[in-house]
Amino acid sequence: MKLLHIDSSALGAQSVSRELSAAIVARWADTVPGLEVIHRDLDSEPLPHLTGKSLAGADADEAARTLAQFQQADVLVIGAPMYNFSVPSTLKAWIDRIAVAGKTFRYTENGPEGLAGGKTVIIASARGGIHSNAPTDFQEPFLRQVFGFLGITDIHFVRAEGIAYSPQHRTDAIAAALASIPAPLRKAA
Ligand SMILES: Cc1cc2nc3c(=O)[nH]c(=O)nc-3n(C[C@H](O)[C@H](O)[C@H](O)COP(=O)(O)O)c2cc1C
Repeated sequence: MKLLHIDSSALGAQSVSRELSAAIVARWADTVPGLEVIHRDLDSEPLPHLTGKSLAGADADEAARTLAQFQQADVLVIGAPMYNFSVPSTLKAWIDRIAVAGKTFRYTENGPEGLAGGKTVIIASARGGIHSNAPTDFQEPFLRQVFGFLGITDIHFVRAEGIAYSPQHRTDAIAAALASIPAPLRKAA
């Protein structure tokens, strides 16, 4: 069984989403014997933005490696800070490489069809403010839409909100998020 662990925070050791994503991965590693974990840090090793040159094949090897990592993963754990009400551009750049027509989705006469179903996605979400169910949230609905569009239905959010309100808020939000980590499910290898 393969788990792809993605981080995108620019805040290094101070990052809440990194702390949460690491805790989620540790829980899976403790539960699933032989779990293969690949860690991808989009902050220290960002992907190039998708441009016309990319579409012409300028970074074809990197694009193919990124797509294959996603396609081969059974479980994705994604550290997703809120930046300017959405996700970091580094994470968006990764999404632009995994949403590929004919590979992870396609259009049919009946509309779009996701081709990447069967995976579990767990998002470790950190926000300075509080945005749940608010019109200011372009992060979680965006991520839910992207992975749903690709055919993934098993999507979970582990969320720490209001972490910029006060040090106590931050401590409490992290503790609540850690306590909300869903139990890993055993899947066939
Ligand atoms: C560049 C930048 C943009 C941010 N934009 C928002 C925002 O729009 N809304 C918000 O609630 N918090 C915002 N924050 C606060 C972060 O969401 C918060 O610090 C969160 O903990 C980031 O996740 P991390 O700790 O994993 O880096 C921003 C932080 C940075 C660094």
